[in-house]
Amino acid sequence: MADRILHKGLKAKVMSAEAAAALIPNGAVLGMSGFTGAGYPKAVPIALSKRALEEKLKGKPLKFDVLTGASTGPEQDTMMSFVEASRFRFPYQGDAVTREKINSGLIEYQDMHLSHVGSMVRYGYYGKGKNNLDFAIIEVTKINEDGTCVPSSSCGANNVYFEHADKIILEVNSWQDERLEGMHDIISVPSEHGKRVPLPITAADDRKGSKYWKFDLSKVVAVVESAYPDRNAPFKPPEEIHKRIAGHILDFFDGEVKAGRLSKHLTPLQSGVGNIANAVLVGLNDGPFDRMISYTEVVQDGMLDMLDSGKLVAASATAFSVSPEGQVRFNKDIDRYRKQIILRPQEISNNPEIIRRLGCIAMNGFVEADIYGHVNSTHIAGKGIENGIGGSGDFARNSAYTIFMSPATAKDGKISAIVPFASHIDHTEHEVNGIVTEYGFADLRGRSPKEKAKEVIEKAAAPEYRPLLWDYFKRAMKNPSAGLHSPHMFSEAFAFHTRYLQSGDMRPKK
Ligand code: COA
Repeated sequence: MADRILHKGLKAKVMSAEAAAALIPNGAVLGMSGFTGAGYPKAVPIALSKRALEEKLKGKPLKFDVLTGASTGPEQDTMMSFVEASRFRFPYQGDAVTREKINSGLIEYQDMHLSHVGSMVRYGYYGKGKNNLDFAIIEVTKINEDGTCVPSSSCGANNVYFEHADKIILEVNSWQDERLEGMHDIISVPSEHGKRVPLPITAADDRKGSKYWKFDLSKVVAVVESAYPDRNAPFKPPEEIHKRIAGHILDFFDGEVKAGRLSKHLTPLQSGVGNIANAVLVGLNDGPFDRMISYTEVVQDGMLDMLDSGKLVAASATAFSVSPEGQVRFNKDIDRYRKQIILRPQEISNNPEIIRRLGCIAMNGFVEADIYGHVNSTHIAGKGIENGIGGSGDFARNSAYTIFMSPATAKDGKISAIVPFASHIDHTEHEVNGIVTEYGFADLRGRSPKEKAKEVIEKAAAPEYRPLLWDYFKRAMKNPSAGLHSPHMFSEAFAFHTRYLQSGDMRPKK
């Protein structure tokens, strides 16, 4: 490990995780690395959680405000939430224990577009003072002789946490492959509104920044060595339902190529995480399109397959989200992948200016969508928040094609993913182009809300829910107080949800 810390001054600051955690005072605002289970600090959050538990047992609970890039992993989110050491969490999570604490009111959670994080921290909405965060706790792969650092398996919001923390703790993780060096492209966005210049990325695979993190070394108070693996979750092979959803999306692309609106290389792909997104990538790998490129948030197994086959020429992201097998493959061929994959800070990977310039194709999962095309990606009726909006809004609002996908029903058909009125709205009918389920692709382009409703009900809703949705829509059309642009009956708009909460099924009892 000694050869991973080449800067003499920083080497002198090596200490145990427990000693580093002891430096952090109760109530501190912490900016941590980590994005989708990759590149988050592990040893320091474990030590901090242990300390918080000991203090809690003494009746003196510790509470911290925890800012990250996005979701992290068990050593950070699960443990800190379990011992109730997180008072406030920002900007995304995907952890079962954290979710439960948020939904039971024990953690305050601000769910935020991931491209906005940098600006919000720079403008001092968290903590106080010039350097408004108390600590940045950042995992790195290696510390170079000059003190610059080789980033780890995610970039996230590290650049802004380095800039805006009073003190820095570096976690040097020897589990991360040293050959990650050269994969990253670090550009910092000028801070002030009105003074920003155009970003220099005009192609998804442009590299215009530095390979290393550069920051004020005098702020480093501790260097901790660790060897914990990232949270690499296994992927299930695509199920029949996922393959059908992927098939509808591929048919749609085929139609766009035939209509002359897309070439067979498509435009840069953004793909959400999860099994449906992975099934789409599997479909694209087997399909007729070639020499594609992606400008996205995370690189998952399906993208490694596409890079291997040559269907994808390059992938720009901010983090990895691969399975354990994907990680082995990645490390084996890392010298090739390093030329094909570019990891950027999330304010660049998810930057609206670049996404719009490139004309991306955004494909993300949804929880529910309503007949007029509004999409809920985050909230489950009767339960609360699931994960968060993540980067879906960054891409949905700014892409050339904005597609949302989900099975048409959940919980053995008791829940319809298509409802009269979404119970929470993350993406509006003004940006959503397509809603896809295993039954079909509802193409919302060039349609009014009433025309969208017909398309959504007929193409995307599950057949057993279509009569209920038609009944609502047709009666709303006759409702004199609804207006005939996107008619609703407020007394019934949430009848599906109400029925589910009362009887456990959105369908009325026969
Ligand atoms: N009502 C109630 N529960 C629902 C539901 C609905 N309409 N739709 C799904 N669910 C439940 C599922 O049953 C499942 O529950 P379980 O964990 O108890 O089994 C859970 O929600 C997750 O659903 P799943 O079908 O496994 O979906 P997924 O893994 O494809 O995730 C989202 C779907 C929407 C939760 C996920 O895509 C997400 O978090 N999106 C927002 C962030 C995002 O888009 N990030 C990518 C941007 S780059």
